[in-house]
Amino acid sequence: MAEVVLGIETSCDETSAAVLVSGELASLVILSQDVHQIFGGVVPELASRAHLAALPATVDRALVEAGVRVSAVDAVAVTAGPGLVGALLVGVVYAKALAYATDRALVGVHHMEGHLFAPTVEDPALAPPFVALLVSGGHTLLLDVPEWGRYRLMGQTRDDAAGEAFDKVASLLGLGYPGGPAIERLAREGDPTRFDFPRPMIAAGFEFSFSGLKTAVLHAVRASAHLDRDRAHIARCFQDAVLDVLVTKLERAVRATGYRTAVLGGGVACSRALSAAAAERLTGIARVAVASPRLNADNAAMIARAGAYRLGLGERSDWTLDARADLPLPGLS
Ligand code: KG4
Ligand code: ZN
Repeated sequence: MAEVVLGIETSCDETSAAVLVSGELASLVILSQDVHQIFGGVVPELASRAHLAALPATVDRALVEAGVRVSAVDAVAVTAGPGLVGALLVGVVYAKALAYATDRALVGVHHMEGHLFAPTVEDPALAPPFVALLVSGGHTLLLDVPEWGRYRLMGQTRDDAAGEAFDKVASLLGLGYPGGPAIERLAREGDPTRFDFPRPMIAAGFEFSFSGLKTAVLHAVRASAHLDRDRAHIARCFQDAVLDVLVTKLERAVRATGYRTAVLGGGVACSRALSAAAAERLTGIARVAVASPRLNADNAAMIARAGAYRLGLGERSDWTLDARADLPLPGLS
């Protein structure tokens, strides 16, 4: 394993850099871009510009906090996709320039493989086989992971990603962006019996669909004569419906594989309600591994971890490494 790995993540609206020393997290800097809150969602062009302005100082800060000089970095791991192409490009070009100028190894990392490796930052002993539920703003993936690097797709979403559903419902409720944390907070005050929202595709299989649920929430919002009074109840019942679908499919996947471990990852895994629901549902069946929220939201520590794994296999990217909005997950079948 490369001794000192610098990770860089710029796929969406977090500018992040991290340093791993012998597999241990030595520093992690995450700069969240506030500008998008004004627009109720990420504006790609603004995200790229903000990354451009913030990335050099973010990397410098991560090196200083780790007590590592740039000359001591052995390899640079950078998110190459999927994500916003202009945002990704800032990280990729920066990483290429840095690796080229210092004559160090470069490795492009898949953002979702980063999310998959996130719990190993705090729990290095975590190892396959396990089932992974990766839930972010762009993806909802249920994976059978027999070993690192081999990912069998059990199910994914047919329409909206889970995080996207949280963001859209938050917008319907006037809660701003990002929606997930706001919904989770408000849901604590909500009555779970007030609305009966559908649990799409819950009865069978491993696929997900969230657009019908979102439409049901839209109808409830329109029908409400007192949205101020109903808002928390809608948030609670919507969250309960999403989590019920997610943990039901996760449990089904765990039972189908017979594995004893389930991994939660991605921004939606910041939800304490999700990790609690999964742990409760899988009691006696499987242990639930989930990173702390800082490592589940977009961050460079997970990219450095996944990069270190790829480097350990002898993989290197060359100067043709490009940012790809639709990068396929390596090892997916
Ligand atoms: O992984 P991530 O930070 O970015 C992407 O790769 O997309 O995931 C962001 C998503 C957003 O949709 C956000 O609303 C959701 O994660 N999220 C949550 C919570 N915290 C973040 N969803 C539900 N509950 C939360 N507490
Ligand atoms: Zn992400």
